Amino acid sequence: MSDATLPLVYLNGRFLPPDEARIPVMDRGFLFGDGVYEVIPCYGGRLFRLQHHLQRLDSSLRAIRMQNPLAHDQWQALLEKLVQQLPGADQSVYLQVTRGSTGQRDQAIPAGVAPTLFCMTQPAVYPDPDTLVRGVSAVTRPDIRWQRCDIKAITLLANVLLRSEATELGAAEAILIRDGNALEGAASNLFMVRDGTITTPPKSAHLLPGITRDLVIELAAAHHLPFREADIPVAELQQAEEIWITSSSREVTAVVELDSRPVGNGTPGPIYRRMTGLYGDYKQRLQTPDDVT
Ligand code: PDD
Repeated sequence: MSDATLPLVYLNGRFLPPDEARIPVMDRGFLFGDGVYEVIPCYGGRLFRLQHHLQRLDSSLRAIRMQNPLAHDQWQALLEKLVQQLPGADQSVYLQVTRGSTGQRDQAIPAGVAPTLFCMTQPAVYPDPDTLVRGVSAVTRPDIRWQRCDIKAITLLANVLLRSEATELGAAEAILIRDGNALEGAASNLFMVRDGTITTPPKSAHLLPGITRDLVIELAAAHHLPFREADIPVAELQQAEEIWITSSSREVTAVVELDSRPVGNGTPGPIYRRMTGLYGDYKQRLQTPDDVT
């Protein structure tokens, strides 16, 4: 295996160079966005919260009426083999399952079709240290997505448009508003701090149950930080002392400017700094003993 071909991708049972990985044009993932995905960080060779990601994959597949083509231990073996290609590098692993191809374009769900399994890994692109120290800006946008945002579907056109609008406005993320409430980012979950209490919207069909979100909640509970799950009316978000966004790729990032106005004093706040410290410690522990997953 030459360096030029690294890292190989996985497609339907084979590891091969990305340029040689091909899917039929009739694949329902290609035609309809009919599939689901996961993004899993890998730190120090270990897949971060793998079981949580695989459970969410199960729920997404169940919601789109597909069976998981692999058992959890088979996924683990496959993904571990994939990440071994980049020894020592922190990585971002992507996996996707689509409903495959019948050779015809018909929206109705076909029976007995082999799914398409695709996985790849790339070196992790972290928020750079400057971003973590200074924070990012965000803009609010009407949530134009569908009613099942809890499914990690590959159908991401609305997210693509929303994120692009944010980028055009010089912001790192779009915070999505539905029925007067802020729900999550276009590719991240949302937290705010008001009167010293951390708040995140409760899980619902209108947001993705983020793995990073769950970890932040666990860390807040374990370290007795005031926390609640509650709706975040946009007017409250505008008065937040702190706003954070979380995801597998952004980890916990402070939003210091919302719709061109400073959040708090315009720098990452003290509770944010506490949480990123706890998050960093957790990541560190993950890479040594076997006591966390
Ligand atoms: N997105 N909400 C949305 C809409 C997301 O797309 C994501 C992650 C999250 C955070 O979930 P997690 O903590 O499990 O990464 C919340 C991934 C990273 C992506 O699409 O690339």
